[in-house]
Amino acid sequence: MTPPGLPAPPPLGASALPAGTYDGQVVVVTGGGTGLGKAIASEFGRLGASVAVVSRDGTHRAAGVAAVEAAGGTAVGVPCDIREAEAVADAFAAVEARLGPVGALVNNAAGNFPAPAEDLSPNAWRTVVDIVLNGTFLCSREFARRTIPTGRGGAIVNVGASYAWTGGPGFAHSAAAKAGVKNLVETLAVEWAPYGIRVNGLVPGLVPHPDEVEAIAAVPGKYEDQDARVPAGRVGEPRELAWAATYLCSPYAVYISGHSLVVDGANWQRRHTVQPPFTPVREQLGRGPFDPASSRRTTP
Ligand code: HXC
Repeated sequence: MTPPGLPAPPPLGASALPAGTYDGQVVVVTGGGTGLGKAIASEFGRLGASVAVVSRDGTHRAAGVAAVEAAGGTAVGVPCDIREAEAVADAFAAVEARLGPVGALVNNAAGNFPAPAEDLSPNAWRTVVDIVLNGTFLCSREFARRTIPTGRGGAIVNVGASYAWTGGPGFAHSAAAKAGVKNLVETLAVEWAPYGIRVNGLVPGLVPHPDEVEAIAAVPGKYEDQDARVPAGRVGEPRELAWAATYLCSPYAVYISGHSLVVDGANWQRRHTVQPPFTPVREQLGRGPFDPASSRRTTP
């Protein structure tokens, strides 16, 4: 008989934090219009925050704003490509003008696609590192530059990935960038604690959502028996990430900084007593042999 695994979480709408925990607070969520970012933005809204949904894509911004409003919060959509320092500065200025000073920042925006490392073009590598690592740094720096002089303090949460610790075969660019993001959590937590700014990481496990990017969704076997592939016996729910994000930015976590919280049902440390046969990355991704002539873009 299969043991029951970890229990299901409380329903959407429940919260461990008191209602109104974020009343009067302004929260920026990058990539807050899709997937886990949208769930996180909604949860801040439910707890009273005014949320800025920062995204390149107008459709995504509208979806994020609608989700926050449906949860009872106030939201604005702010366009920004987080790879551009000036665009980030402009976006924060726009948020301040419309909602007021920012008290919390969730660096959720990311870019990713699976590819064997030998297939990556310089621009493919640069693009993911630019969005994930440089974008996270630029948004964090902007938040700190605006917050330090005021003495208000605040909180940053960087969405990470467990392959920051382990390496991520098939995702060399994203894994390296996420390792940088995790390291940044630890550095910035120390640098900015004197100013009352906390910096933490939040690491999702297997948490399916309807906005998964096509290239990742197309990985062979991705959606087969997902529950059975987690020690918990089930995948995670977006709201479980959102609860963790709202907790980490809240007054109940004011002594937590420099920590990366993994919310993955004990998946990332799993090992078999005898490992299953090894499958090379090209085979996992359904690729043929490496072909230098057609290696620039090899996913559908
Ligand atoms: C190989 C690819 C590719 C693919 C793009 N490139 N997609 N190479 N396989 N599937 C290459 C392009 O050919 C180009 O290189 C370079 O990458 C830049 O591509 P653009 O399309 O011009 O970039 P851009 O428009 O800026 O889009 C960035 C993006 C896109 C990352 C490619 O997918 C995006 O915007 N994604 C945002 C959402 C997202 O990815 N979320 C995933 C989060 S999940 P050349 O050399 O041709 O110019 C996550 C954690 C997952 O991060 C952990 C579990 C797996």
